[in-house]
Amino acid sequence: MSDLVYLNGDFLPKEQATVSVLDRGFLFGDGVYEVIPVYGGHLFRLTQHLERLSRSLRSIRMEDPLPREQWRAVFNRLLAQAGPLATDRAIYLQVTRGVAAKRDHGFPDPVKPTVFAMAYAAPQPAREQIEQGAAVITLEDIRWKCCDIKAITLLANVLLRQQATDQGAAEALLVRDGFVHEGTSSNFFLVHQGQIVTPPHGPYLLAGVTRDLVVELARADALRIIERPVSSAMLAAAEELWITSSTRELLPITSLDGEPVGTGEPGPLWRRLSGLFSDYKQRIREAYPG
Ligand code: PDD
Repeated sequence: MSDLVYLNGDFLPKEQATVSVLDRGFLFGDGVYEVIPVYGGHLFRLTQHLERLSRSLRSIRMEDPLPREQWRAVFNRLLAQAGPLATDRAIYLQVTRGVAAKRDHGFPDPVKPTVFAMAYAAPQPAREQIEQGAAVITLEDIRWKCCDIKAITLLANVLLRQQATDQGAAEALLVRDGFVHEGTSSNFFLVHQGQIVTPPHGPYLLAGVTRDLVVELARADALRIIERPVSSAMLAAAEELWITSSTRELLPITSLDGEPVGTGEPGPLWRRLSGLFSDYKQRIREAYPG
């Protein structure tokens, strides 16, 4: 039997989980989402993901459809029904502004949101990429000005990411008016004149849960991280570079627009922070054997 997914209050096989063609997620990309890693059966940084979900929903003038405890119960049931898995898992959830009687840009009244969640085997970060580092390219950021909302409307991100893939790169870092804010689906850190730097929160990037954890872990370990705008010139001169996301964790970048980053190998500060991240994950696995 196929895994169950959650749709509007029901748990059902994914083949039977269907959404109306008049759903505003389908017609307008009118909705938001989250991706939550699950390590050892534990929902990683759940509070932070659910807080960001609430923020995204508020930004698009919607209410959170479920209280926190109910979200947790939904995720735990999705995870429990799949049984133990050899690999780590992740939760995908999406909330749209629901189905309206006709296609109209204005909000329907009342709004009955479409609420969907599923658990799936998380893609494992490729060992070779971690050992040797990955390549990124820079591209002009053609997205809108509300990148802090985790919107399902991802056409620009999809097109930019495909350009990176077509050029054999793992990610595209996006440049707007001479400054680099994030990747198509990741944040980034660089080492500049010996100091770890990442762009501050703002409208042109998503406040990554992984990014924020890396900042927290670094500070707890007395490593200084500077949150400041990163110009293209600073990026080009980076001594180290890595991207972060829930699915890629901390991925070292050793090639930028075809040129080596620093020594061309994953650097010592990435190694240190990646180690702190792995230790943090390991403590969670031990505390919540899944
Ligand atoms: N993307 N910036 C963008 C534009 C993203 O889409 C993501 C994550 C991040 C990193 O955020 P976090 O550390 O909370 O995963 C930054 C998810 C993984 C996705 O779209 O699949």
